[in-house]
Amino acid sequence: MSKINLAVFASGNGSNAEEIFRYFDLHSAIQVKGVFTNNPNAFVLERASRNNIPSFIFTKEEFIAGTKLTKLLEKWNIDAIILAGFLWLIPGYLINLYPNRILNIHPALLPQFGGKGMYGKYVHQAVIRSGQKESGITIHLVNPQYDKGQIIFQKRCKVDPADTPETLASRIHKLEHRHYPAVIEQWLKE
Ligand code: GRF
Repeated sequence: MSKINLAVFASGNGSNAEEIFRYFDLHSAIQVKGVFTNNPNAFVLERASRNNIPSFIFTKEEFIAGTKLTKLLEKWNIDAIILAGFLWLIPGYLINLYPNRILNIHPALLPQFGGKGMYGKYVHQAVIRSGQKESGITIHLVNPQYDKGQIIFQKRCKVDPADTPETLASRIHKLEHRHYPAVIEQWLKE
């Protein structure tokens, strides 16, 4: 039986991407076929190559036009797209090509602290400034608006009064690493 093929889209460090590579390495039914990035300097490229996963770097123009990306997604027989720290809004042609088949992870409890410009330290700064006692992670389907698709999983953690955006980010990253790969696996089974 052929495996379910995943494409991972990432723009930066790629620690979540690497957890996903490892989790599905040698998996009997699911595999990561390739990494897509808009950022030629992203550390995720190094992580992909270490894990023997091919990658594709694209420009804004290519992303908007879509021809090159869709050809490669077809060539690699990609069944679902996993966003792992990917910063650009997903264009309509990709959502149409993969209806309810694109997943994202957000480092806070949506619907709060989401939307354009709410990524990385900006999210954690906003959570701390607003005095929240809890934050967490949200895994959701992707629709044409930033962070607005159907939520499929959330997990909470404490915000400590002494937290800085960095300490909170590190707690959130641990939660993400622990849950994202298994949630992807479960979602693909449904
Ligand atoms: C994660 O916190 C994720 O929630 C957000 O971007 C961050 C990516 O981190 N979408 P990394 O590149 O996986 O380390």
